[in-house]
Amino acid sequence: MIHFLSFYVILKMPIHEGSKMLKTTLSALAITVSTLAMAQEPNYQAPEQATATDFIEIFETLSGKHPGIRKGHARGVCAAGSFTPSSVAQERYSSPIFDTKVPVVLRFSMGGGNPNADERAKAPRGIGVQFQLANGSLHQLAGLTTPMFAGKNPEQFLGLLRLNAQIRDGEAPADARANYFAANPEAAGQGQWLQQRNPAAEYTSASYYGIHTFFADTATGKKDKFRWQLIPATGEVLLTDEERETLPADFLTDRLVERINTDGAVHYYLQWVIGTDADATNDPSVVWPVEQREVVNVGTLTISGANGEQCTPINFDPNLLAQGVQASDDPVLALRSAAYAISFGKRLSQQ
Ligand code: HEM
Repeated sequence: MIHFLSFYVILKMPIHEGSKMLKTTLSALAITVSTLAMAQEPNYQAPEQATATDFIEIFETLSGKHPGIRKGHARGVCAAGSFTPSSVAQERYSSPIFDTKVPVVLRFSMGGGNPNADERAKAPRGIGVQFQLANGSLHQLAGLTTPMFAGKNPEQFLGLLRLNAQIRDGEAPADARANYFAANPEAAGQGQWLQQRNPAAEYTSASYYGIHTFFADTATGKKDKFRWQLIPATGEVLLTDEERETLPADFLTDRLVERINTDGAVHYYLQWVIGTDADATNDPSVVWPVEQREVVNVGTLTISGANGEQCTPINFDPNLLAQGVQASDDPVLALRSAAYAISFGKRLSQQ
C-alpha cells in the first residue's frame, strides 16, 4: 500500500524530482525484494549447533505429533530370544556380556517418526537389542540397516532434516538437497547407499550395523577398537522390484511372525569389526574397509518370539553398555542418549 501511494505522489511531481524519487523508491523496493528473497533462501550450511530438543522438534515437524509413540523409529515390532557368546569372545574379552547365554529383547523398526511408515520404502530400518546379563546388568545395541550415518556430526544431520522439511513444505526447491550435499558431502552417503539397493524382504533377512565406534577391554588388559554388525545366518534377502510394487505398505510384522512360526527361530552372527589406527573413531559417516579388517564372531543372536509387549518399558539407549565396553568420542553417539531420554519420557507420559 505504501508503495502505491509513493507512486501516486511521484506522478504529481515535476519531472526531474519525480525521476529522482522514483529511482530512490525503486532501489528501496529492490532492497526489500532481495531481503525477502534472502530470507526464503534455503540454508545449505549445517547449523552451528544441534541439541536433542532440536531433533525432537524436527522429527515432529516431519512426521506430525503422535502422543505416546517413539519420536524416532515410531513404527516397529518387538521380538525376544537369546544371545550365546562364542568361545573366541570369552577368551579374548573381559566383559560379562560373554560370560554365558543370556535372554535378549529386541525391537525391529522403520526409521523416522511416522507410525505408519511405508515399509516398502528405500529408507533406513533399525534394530534395538537389550542383553539381560546374568549379573543383573544390561548391555544395549541400536543400529541401522545402513553401514553409515547421514552426517559426520549431529549438526549435518539436523541441517539435512530441516532442509527436507523445507522442501516438503515448498519453501525450498527439490534440487536444494544437491546444494546441501555439495556443502556437506558427509551427509550424502547414506541416501546414496539406500537408493542403490532394494530394502530387505524381511526384518530378519537384513544386516544391521552399529555404525559408531566402541572400545572393548581385552583379557590381557588392552583395548580393541570395534564396530559391531549383525549378519543373518541364512544371508541377506532383498525385496524384488515386483514385491516393492505389489506388497501392502505394512508387511514386515506379518513376515516376522510367519518366519518364527515356520522356522521356530532365526539366527544372527554378532560380529565385531576391529579397527586399526587408520580408522576414524568419531565420524559415523565413514565406513571402515571391512574386507581388510579382522572380524571377530563374538556370538549368535537367536530370535524365537515376536510381537510381544516386552519392549514397552525399554529405552534402547546405545550408551547403556556393560562393563568392559566403552563408547568412543563420536559426537552423534554422545547426543543420542539425551534424544532417546526425551522421546522415552514423552512416550510414557502420552505426549
Ligand atoms: C543425531 C542422531 C540421532 C538422533 C537425534 C536419534 C533419535 C532417536 C530417537 C528420538 C529415537 C526414539 C527413542 C525412543 O523413544 O525409545 C530413536 C530410535 C532409534 N534410533 Fe536413533 N537417533 C540418532 C541416530 C541414530 C543412529 C546413528 C542409529 C544407528 C546407529 C540410530 C538407531 C535407532 C534405532 C534402532 C532406534 C529404535 C530403538 C527402538 O526400537 O526403541 N539412531 N532415535
